[in-house]
Amino acid sequence: MSILFSPYKIGSLELPNRLVRSATAERMADTDGRPLPPLKDLYAELARGGVGLIITGHMYVHPSGKVHEEMTGIYNDDLLPDLAQLANTVHHENGRIVVQINHGGMHSSDETVDETFAPSPVGEPYVSRPAREVTPQEIENIIQAYADAARRVQETGFDGVQIHAAHGYLIGQFLSPLINRRNDEWGGEITKRMRFLKEISRAIREQVGYDYPVLIKLGMMDGIEGGLLPDESLQVVAALEDMGIDGLEISGGLNGDRVKNIKKGIRSEDDEAYFLPLAQEARKVTQLPILLVGGMRSRSVMDRILADGHADFVSMCRPLISEPDLPNRLRLSLQDKSRCMSSNNCWPENLGEGIACKCPHEKLVDKGKT
Ligand SMILES: Cc1cc2nc3c(=O)[nH]c(=O)nc-3n(C[C@H](O)[C@H](O)[C@H](O)COP(=O)(O)O)c2cc1C
Ligand code: SF4
Repeated sequence: MSILFSPYKIGSLELPNRLVRSATAERMADTDGRPLPPLKDLYAELARGGVGLIITGHMYVHPSGKVHEEMTGIYNDDLLPDLAQLANTVHHENGRIVVQINHGGMHSSDETVDETFAPSPVGEPYVSRPAREVTPQEIENIIQAYADAARRVQETGFDGVQIHAAHGYLIGQFLSPLINRRNDEWGGEITKRMRFLKEISRAIREQVGYDYPVLIKLGMMDGIEGGLLPDESLQVVAALEDMGIDGLEISGGLNGDRVKNIKKGIRSEDDEAYFLPLAQEARKVTQLPILLVGGMRSRSVMDRILADGHADFVSMCRPLISEPDLPNRLRLSLQDKSRCMSSNNCWPENLGEGIACKCPHEKLVDKGKT
């Protein structure tokens, strides 16, 4: 049997294959963060399409960390019934679903948050609106907000929770030497800059217990001068098992312009799997299951990465916006490659539209003819 369609586990979570839908902000929630019906439909479609695990778009753990309009929220118990419907929908289709939880910090949006904060004061060119320094009391409150959010994830019946520690949001800001210039117990050497993540993980475990699957998406490099580099992030990777993390998804990029983490122009197999070198390094220092995201497009590349043992799962975002049934099509050999053009036309132009594949379809490879 092909490794891609063989079962594997992340902690106590058993998955039927190695294909994961990486977190994708769907922009299908109302102003309070309550999921709207199209989100349920999208998750059902993904589950029917055969992906082994769906990771939701990032959900905000506290109103001060809302990153954009129409972001789903998990900051309040009032949201529980609507969130539970999402989990039920996926389970009804025999799928598995994990919730990604996040706080935007300096990248919380102008439209949704009056003032932003970061580990240290930040201005241009890193953010368009200056962010002030977060206080020790606020740090404690946010750690608690993450733990409460994880408790809600578990209570509503999802299969696990993923901590978003990539792409320059608050946890990534704490890990970054460029953004975190504190000299108290939350800043300094990487051992201190990772304390925020450690405390969040500890607080989450206190809420959800030791059997519940807790994953992380970790930005292993900022890709910007003075930012986090792999030699330091590998120390974070090495510490994850002790933090009680069950699975590591690898990504990178701090600056919020998406250049590093949502790379455009993936045309050949050589352009694919652009974070593979980070996974190869991470493998040397952790036994955790590794999920590799970033430019996975061809069946042959996915098979090779799994067979060589560089990762245990391949994670995709844009290919599954374009074709939610791509996993089934790969499994049935109807297709051997995603049709995604990696041109990043997936974001909505107007409120109420949600994410959608908008690259010109006539240029896309016809289904079944790759
Ligand atoms: C529309 C869109 C929304 C995204 N939302 C999230 C998100 O909520 N959380 C996250 O960790 N990454 C998010 N990403 C990044 C993807 O999960 C993924 O890391 C990146 O797109 C590279 O993978 P790909 O080449 O398969 O698209 C988003 C990407 C896109 C295109
Ligand atoms: S809009 Fe373009 S980049 Fe986005 S999913 Fe569709 S083909 Fe891929």
